[in-house]
Amino acid sequence: MTVAFGGVDLDPVEIGINGNAILGIKESGKSYLGTELGELLFDSGIPFVTFDPIGIWHNMRYPGAGKGYPIVVAGGFHGDIPLTPASAPTIVEAAMKKGVSVVLDLFHPELSKADWRTIVRECAMLLLHRNTEYGLRHVFIEEAAEFVPQRVFDARVYDAVERLIRMGGNSRLGCTLISPRSQEVNKAVLELCENMFLFRQRGKNALENLKKWLEVAGAAGGDVMKTLPNMPRGECWAWLGGSDLPVHVRVPRKNSFHPDRRAMGGAAEAPRGKAVSVGKFIGALQAELPKIEEEVKANDPRVLKAEVQRLTRALAAAEKGQAPAAPAWPDQREEVAALVAELSECTAAMDRLTAAANELQRRQKAALAALGGESLPLPAVTPPTRRASPAPPPAPRQPAPARAAPQSDGSVPPGCAKPLAALAAVYPSGLTEAQWATSAGYKRSGGTWGTYKGRLRSAGLIEQREGRWFATEVGAAAVGDVELPPAPGPDLVRWWAAKLPGTTKMAEALIEAWPEWLSRDELAARLEMSAAGGTFGTYVGRLAGPGVVERGSDGIRLTCEIMG
Ligand SMILES: Nc1ncnc2c1ncn2[C@@H]1O[C@H](COP(=O)(O)OP(=O)(O)O)[C@@H](O)[C@H]1O
Ligand SMILES: [Mg+2]
Repeated sequence: MTVAFGGVDLDPVEIGINGNAILGIKESGKSYLGTELGELLFDSGIPFVTFDPIGIWHNMRYPGAGKGYPIVVAGGFHGDIPLTPASAPTIVEAAMKKGVSVVLDLFHPELSKADWRTIVRECAMLLLHRNTEYGLRHVFIEEAAEFVPQRVFDARVYDAVERLIRMGGNSRLGCTLISPRSQEVNKAVLELCENMFLFRQRGKNALENLKKWLEVAGAAGGDVMKTLPNMPRGECWAWLGGSDLPVHVRVPRKNSFHPDRRAMGGAAEAPRGKAVSVGKFIGALQAELPKIEEEVKANDPRVLKAEVQRLTRALAAAEKGQAPAAPAWPDQREEVAALVAELSECTAAMDRLTAAANELQRRQKAALAALGGESLPLPAVTPPTRRASPAPPPAPRQPAPARAAPQSDGSVPPGCAKPLAALAAVYPSGLTEAQWATSAGYKRSGGTWGTYKGRLRSAGLIEQREGRWFATEVGAAAVGDVELPPAPGPDLVRWWAAKLPGTTKMAEALIEAWPEWLSRDELAARLEMSAAGGTFGTYVGRLAGPGVVERGSDGIRLTCEIMG
C-alpha cells in the first residue's frame, strides 16, 4: 500500500526495508523529512531507532499540526532515560523486544564523538545480529558523515554502518542516512542506497559530486542540477529505487512538532501540548540501567588493569622490603595480605573478562558467518601479563625511603597535550619512543621533545616500562576525547604512513604484498624509484622507525604487530 507524499507515492515497507539517503545543506528540510518518514513508518506499524547527534528527534513526542508520537527518548537534554555507551545496547535491545521506537539522543556535552561512534557501532552490530526475529525495523542516522565519512578513520563504526546498509535486509532492517555534507559521506556507502532525497545543494564540491553520480545513472539531465542550488526549503528531488528519474517533491506537513530554529524565543521554538507518555516501558528500563552501569564499571578493563598495576607495585615494594618495620606498624602485614588477596581477585576478574570477550567475539563471528559477512577486525583479547601467582608477603623490614611522589593532579602541562594524547590513544597499551614521537608529530632528537617528556613524567601523566612509554591512568583520563588509531591491519599502516612524509606509496605497495617479503629492488621497482637512491632508503627508514616495516635477509615487509 502506498501513501501520496507531495508528488510521489511512497510505500512504507519499501522505505522501511531499504537504504535511503537524505542530503542537503543546513536548514533545507532534511530532519523534517526524516522525522516525517519516521511518522509514516510508525503509523504503518514499523518501529524505528534513530541516532540523533543534533538533538531534534525528541520533538516527535509533541503534537504539531497533528498528533505527537509515543517514542522513547534516551539521552540528550530531554531524555526519558539516560544514555551512555554502556547502556545504549540494552536500551536498543529492550526496544527491539517490545516493538518500541526509540531515539538515542547523542546531543549532550557528556558524550564525546568517540562515544557517539561506540554507541552507533555497538547498536548497529546488535541490530544486525538480533533484529531478524523481531520483524521489520528502520534505523535513522543523522550526521551520517560522522560514522561513514569519505575518509574512513574509524574502520569499526564504518564497517558496522556499511553492513547495515549493504545487508540489513537479511536482518529485516533498513537505514536512512541524513547529512548536510553530501560530499563527505562515503561514496561507496551512498551507492548502496536505493532511495535518495536531494534537498538544496550549495558548494562546488557537493554539486560536482552529485552531478557525476547522476550522470552515471543517466539522471543528470532535465532540471535536477539546475534547480538544486535554489530548491526552496522543504522541497527535494526524490530519486526512488523503482523509478528511472528523480521526481520533484514538496514534503507535506507532518503531524508532530518540528522546532523552528530561526524563531528567536517565539512560540514556534517550544513545543505546545504534552509529550506522549511511554511510562511503562521506561519504568521497566529505569530499574535496569543503573545495574548495567555498575557492572560495566566493575569490569572496565582500564580500571581493572590500573588496579592490577597499583597492587603489583605495592606488592613489589613490600617484597623488596621497603615496607616499614613490623613492630612499629604491626598492621602493615595485614594490609599487604589484603592487597595480595585483592590482586588475585582482580586478576581472576581480568581472566573472566578476557574469556567473556573472546566468547563474544566467537559468537559474533558465528553470527556474522550466518549472515554471510566477515568478522569485524577486533583484536584478539589476551590476558594482561602478570607475575606468577603472588607470593605470600614477607615480613616487612625497613622503613620506606622518603621520595617525592610525582604530582598528578590531572592537569596537562603547557604544550604537552599532543604527546600525551598520542599515548592516551593507545592506553592501556604503550608505544616505543619512536612510535610515540612519530604519532605525536615530533622529532625524537629535538629539544622540545625532551622537555615535554620530562614535564609529562614529573606530572605523573606518563611512565616508562620495559622500553615502552605508557599514559598513566590519570594521564589517559586527563586527555578526554582522543581519536583512537585504527585496529592493526592496512588502515593502521596507512595511519602511520600519513604521519611519515613521502611513505604513502611505499606503504600501499607493502600492503599489497603482505604477507610476502619484497626485495629492495622489487619494492623500488614498484615505486619507480632506485633502490640505491637516498630517498628510497630514507622512506624505508621512516617506516622502520616506529616499527611499521621490518628489514630481513629476504627484503622488506610490514611487521606482524602492525598488521595484527
Ligand atoms: N516540508 C516542510 N514544511 C514546513 N516547514 C519545513 C519543511 N521542511 C523544513 N521546514 C522548516 O525548515 C526549517 C529547517 O528544517 P530542518 O528539517 O530542521 O532542516 P535541516 O535540513 O537542517 O535538517 C525548520 O524550521 C522546519 O520547520
Ligand atoms: Mg537537521
